[in-house]
Amino acid sequence: MMFKALVLNKEPQFSAQVSQFDEASLLTTDIQAEIEYSTLNFKDGLAITNKGPVVRLWPMIAGIDGAGKVLQSSHPDWKPGNLFVHNGWGVGETHLGCLAQRAHLKGDWLVKLPSNFTTRQAMGIGTAGYTAMLCVMALEKAGLKPAHGEVVVTGATGGVGSIAIAILARLGFSVVAVTGKLSEESYLKSLGASRVIDRLEFSSPGKPLQKERWAGAVDTAGSSTLANLCAQMQYGGSVAACGLAQGADLSLTVMPFILRGVHLLGVDSVMAPLSKRQEAWQRLSSDLDQQLLEKMIQEITLEQAPEYADLLMQGKITGRIVVKI
Ligand SMILES: NC(=O)c1ccc[n+]([C@@H]2O[C@H](COP(=O)([O-])OP(=O)(O)OC[C@H]3O[C@@H](n4cnc5c(N)ncnc54)[C@H](OP(=O)(O)O)[C@@H]3O)[C@@H](O)[C@H]2O)c1
Repeated sequence: MMFKALVLNKEPQFSAQVSQFDEASLLTTDIQAEIEYSTLNFKDGLAITNKGPVVRLWPMIAGIDGAGKVLQSSHPDWKPGNLFVHNGWGVGETHLGCLAQRAHLKGDWLVKLPSNFTTRQAMGIGTAGYTAMLCVMALEKAGLKPAHGEVVVTGATGGVGSIAIAILARLGFSVVAVTGKLSEESYLKSLGASRVIDRLEFSSPGKPLQKERWAGAVDTAGSSTLANLCAQMQYGGSVAACGLAQGADLSLTVMPFILRGVHLLGVDSVMAPLSKRQEAWQRLSSDLDQQLLEKMIQEITLEQAPEYADLLMQGKITGRIVVKI
C-alpha cells in the first residue's frame, strides 16, 4: 500500500517533501500503525531543515513523535484498535518516522494513550511536553518543593518551556519565565509564570558564583545560560538540563557544586525506559491543565510542516505545533 509521508532525501541535494511512500519499504516490526497526529519538536526542525545531524538513514521519513491507532500487532501488549503515543527511540533518525499516514513501530516503545487525552492532545504535548515532565520529575526526585523558592524556566515560549511552566505552576511552584520574546509576556503569565525576564541577562559568560536566586531550574538553552543558572542557584538547588537551544557548549567551574551543593540533573527523553515514560504520561494526564495545553497548540497540515520547521528553527514559534496527518 502507498501512503503519504514527509520524506527527507539527501541526493542529489537535500529535500523535504510530502510524497507517496511504499509500505513494503518499511521495516517489518511487531506493530503496524495508523498515525493520526504528529508534531514538530526542535529535533524535527533540525532534521526537516537539515540544520543538524539528526538523520542517519536516507531516505528518511521525518517525525520523532506520533499518536494513533494500532492496525496490526504481534506484540502481546497491543491489539488492533489500541490508541498509543510514541516518542523518540531513534524514530525519524535511524528508523522511518511518524510524519506519515503509516508507521511500523515496536510494541516495547509505545505508551498507552492516557484515557483523558485525544491523539491530538498527546501530540500537543509530544516529546517537548514529555521532556518537560521528565525535568519536573527529576527536580522532585532531587527534593525540590514549592516552599524552597522560585523555579526558573528558559526557552519559555518554546515547547518544553511552555509545558514546564504550566506543570510547575499547577504544582504550586512560583515560576519565572526566561524568554527572548518579551512580547509574549501575557501568554507566559497565562500559563502560570509569575514573572518574565529577558534571556539576554543569561546569554553571555558570567562569574562562577553569582547572587543566589533560584531554588530550581528547567534549562532548554545550554551554553552560557546553563552556566549562569548554575552560578545563581540557591544552596542545595537543582537544575534539570535538557536542551541546547543556545548551544551545546558548557563552560563553568565546580564552585556551585562544591560550595553550594547545587545538583545538575541531565534529562534524556529519547532512550528513557518504558516505565519512566509511562510514569511521565500518567503525570501529564493529571498535572497538565488541558485548557492551557489548548492555548499552546497551533494545528497544521503535513504539507505545511517544512514551512513551520523553518519558522521553529528561526525561533519564531510560540508553544507547540501539532500536525494533522
Ligand atoms: N533531552 C531531551 O531528550 C530533549 C527533549 C526535547 C527537547 N530537547 C531540547 O530542548 C530544547 C527545547 O526544545 P523545544 O522542543 O522546546 O524547542 P522549541 O519549541 O523550538 O523552543 C526552543 C526555545 O528556545 C529559546 N531559544 C532559541 N534560541 C535561543 C538562544 N540562542 N538562547 C536561549 N534560548 C533560545 C526560544 O524561546 P524564547 O524565545 O522564549 O527564549 C525557543 O522558542 C532544544 O534544544 C531541544 O533539542 C531535549
